[in-house]
Amino acid sequence: MLRKLGLMPEQASSIAGEVDALYLVLVALTAFFGLLIGGLVLGFAVRYRRGRNRKATQIEGSLVLELLWTGIPFVIAMGIFLWGAKIYLAIARPPDDALEIFVVGKQWMWKLQHMEGRREINELHVPTGQPVKLTMTSEDVIHSFYVPAFRVKQDVLPGRYTTLWFEATRPGSYHLFCAEYCGTEHSRMIGRVVAMEPHDYQEWLTGAATTTIAATTNGSAGIASSSMSDLGKAAFERTGCAACHAVDAEGAKTRMIGPPLVGLADERVKLQSGVEVAVDEAYLRRSIIEPMGELVEGYQPVMPAYAGRLSEEEILQIIAYIESLEPEASR
Ligand code: CUA
Repeated sequence: MLRKLGLMPEQASSIAGEVDALYLVLVALTAFFGLLIGGLVLGFAVRYRRGRNRKATQIEGSLVLELLWTGIPFVIAMGIFLWGAKIYLAIARPPDDALEIFVVGKQWMWKLQHMEGRREINELHVPTGQPVKLTMTSEDVIHSFYVPAFRVKQDVLPGRYTTLWFEATRPGSYHLFCAEYCGTEHSRMIGRVVAMEPHDYQEWLTGAATTTIAATTNGSAGIASSSMSDLGKAAFERTGCAACHAVDAEGAKTRMIGPPLVGLADERVKLQSGVEVAVDEAYLRRSIIEPMGELVEGYQPVMPAYAGRLSEEEILQIIAYIESLEPEASR
């Protein structure tokens, strides 16, 4: 009903129903207690008003009453907390099989790139029925990626990665907003997310899309011939990373200045400081722009910092390339 009245955005993701249920229960609880207390205040004001000679019974301490008005709010508050925590965890942790898409925010547009290489601006095409994970960063100031119909919102920060995931449930076109004031044209930093049936999405991805939804796109999406990891490989070689880092088992025998990069993704490495870190996108990014910060054990501090020398997109591409380096593929 609220949706019909235009008070709520439509529900188009797997999490939307649960987020709305929690929200509506919070509103209902607040309304119930607000009306109850407001009603009692009014009722008592009338009942015990001056001139009518009725006296209230004074209560001097009551264990039952105190237990009740402590116990009931406690149970309600803990219920809200547990329910909220459950939904929060579901939103915060992307499933392992999620499709990866990279997002770079800048004043004032969203740049998106699919693993297969296809790029988009202010428009994101995703398949329905599959979790999608966005790895996001900003080139300048803080932005926020917000899709009301999916009930997800995540700040996009310069200098580090944040992630967001969702699973679209219904094909359609949904609003995408920047939800963090980021300058003059913040209000125009908008776009849309187009959810498509998986086979339509595959067609779109390969550039042959002529379905009704894709046909309405404004043509801002460029068709790239190379995948993210191919682009990353090119950037990797252009930047000279290959001089020190081996990318296959063969190279690892001769090139030993930097750690070999085969099969690194999702592993853990030991640092000079003795700390073990998980090799995720955030760690790889830090190692590229500020390598001295987290030097891998057993290697000399000789790698130059690439902060400012690579664009955020190049860094993401190089990371996609490093993550694509599987040990079995190197033979
Ligand atoms: Cu970007 Cu507001």
